[in-house]
Amino acid sequence: MTETSDGARRWDTDELPEGDEKVAAVRDMFDAIAPKYDRLNRIISFRLDVRWRKRAVRDLALAPGSRVLDLASGTGDLCVDLEAARIRPISVDLSFGMLAADRSGAPRVQGDILRLPHPDASVDGVTCGFALRNLVDLPTFFAELGRVVRPGGRIALLDVSVPTNRVVRWGNDIYFGKVVPRIGAALSDGPAYRYLPKSVAYLPPPSEMLETLRSAGFLDATHAQLSGGLTQLLVGTRAGA
Ligand SMILES: C[S@@+](CC[C@H](N)C(=O)[O-])C[C@H]1O[C@@H](n2cnc3c(N)ncnc32)[C@H](O)[C@@H]1O
Repeated sequence: MTETSDGARRWDTDELPEGDEKVAAVRDMFDAIAPKYDRLNRIISFRLDVRWRKRAVRDLALAPGSRVLDLASGTGDLCVDLEAARIRPISVDLSFGMLAADRSGAPRVQGDILRLPHPDASVDGVTCGFALRNLVDLPTFFAELGRVVRPGGRIALLDVSVPTNRVVRWGNDIYFGKVVPRIGAALSDGPAYRYLPKSVAYLPPPSEMLETLRSAGFLDATHAQLSGGLTQLLVGTRAGA
């Protein structure tokens, strides 16, 4: 772990931090890349990220007027898609930089999504885009979802994935391992975009995430691979309605 002149913590690229060190490093990283985050996302995903978020909102399948927490909302892209579906989002994120760049107009809350300030069964649903791998404790997060989502409410969680097809995986490894870090270094922040391909290693296999979600009360939880497994989508309904 090193400290930059502005006091931000950055880890060395071969190291993946854990615990409080990871929380602080993730927050500092997103504060640093926030102003250019949307532009880089569109470039490195060839705008597929836009399509993935729309799919998540579609599969959330909640009625207009529903109240949804968009957790780890970043710059609010999912909130914009939720609002287009006439759903009422609340944006929650750890990074003040990302929240400041949020132009969705949704109410914004700064905080750690492992400890939500919302009462039990108080929302109709939750979305979360590309943040599962940044969390220090996924079972705690899934338990929080089971706590705040009302019975019959829905969740849709997106994150990057390791493609199962060998050829797609080979291309993906080269692109994210070699090309994306160079684009990131040229247009935004080198260490952040070197972290991106490595951080997928934090994610448990889909079967383990499904089991944890079911234990948290999402008994019908399902997993889908999007775009040949570049991204994954977990969807479920809170049991008990
Ligand atoms: C890759 S960005 C995704 C942003 C947005 N959801 C999207 O779809 O583009 C990950 C976001 O997770 C946030 N984050 C990471 N750990 C968090 C935590 N423990 N609590 C709240 N937000 C967190 C970061 O600040 C960052 O904005």
